[in-house]
Amino acid sequence: MKAIIPAAGMGTRFLPVTKAVPKEMLPVVDKPVLQYIVEEAIAAAADEVVVVSSREKKAIEDHFAPDDALIATLEAKGKDALAAAVKHAGELPVSFVYQDEPLGLGHAVHCAEQVAGERFCVLLGDVIVPGNNILPRMMEISDAHGGANVIAVLPLPDEEIPRYGIVAGTEVEPGVWKVNSIVEKPALEDAPSNLGSFGRYLLSPRVMEILATLPPGAGDEIQLTDALDAVLSEEEMYACVIDPSDGFDTGTVPGWLAANFELAKRAGMV
Ligand code: UTP
Repeated sequence: MKAIIPAAGMGTRFLPVTKAVPKEMLPVVDKPVLQYIVEEAIAAAADEVVVVSSREKKAIEDHFAPDDALIATLEAKGKDALAAAVKHAGELPVSFVYQDEPLGLGHAVHCAEQVAGERFCVLLGDVIVPGNNILPRMMEISDAHGGANVIAVLPLPDEEIPRYGIVAGTEVEPGVWKVNSIVEKPALEDAPSNLGSFGRYLLSPRVMEILATLPPGAGDEIQLTDALDAVLSEEEMYACVIDPSDGFDTGTVPGWLAANFELAKRAGMV
């Protein structure tokens, strides 16, 4: 399975930090957000991890490049654990494609169309799942339903519903919904449920084909949600309800702070 990690957005909700630092490179405790996500994809047995980056976000590539000089300096000082951490980051099997303009999440995913041809997963570059437990569950659900599309969804409080893609469907087993439709950023009164898509997608090659010709949608961006809604007329899709403590959206200041606090707590640091 191939993994696509879109990381070429502007990060406007995190300005002015993101003027010079990509939000995907912000630290959560001791690692950048994106490293958690690459490691999660590898833990889910992805045989290729493609980061969709922007040419302005050079720090992303620098982080995943080998740095023998730094490793040698650290080893000479007896800082072997730090040398190992630097070596590890440089050895993660990541490749890059570029989105020249941030035309939307759907457009970013399509920039990695080279991975089409088989089932693939998309991991948003600002959502971390530290326990690496969501993709394996999604794969189980997909396998149980003949390779169907599966998306992760999170139960949302009312005030957050207009910020997410919200699914309509029926619960077929505890925590698993069969999706009938999905609507991007509905008004609260129009929302068909409180389940919002949350950064992990297991998708068929047909979704990539649909993205190739999809017109811009909400916000004048090419929306992954619109491609998901379109594929529903041809293929089944299930939603896997995740526990709010399993994943963190680090793309906003409160979300990033919560991720740091929670993981620092789990590590016994605070
Ligand atoms: P977001 O919508 O959270 O990212 O997309 P954004 O557009 O950077 O955020 P704001 O609203 O300006 O603060 C989720 C992921 O998809 C990537 C982002 O980098 C992020 O990791 N993305 C989004 C792209 O790669 N390209 C895009 O055109 C949009």
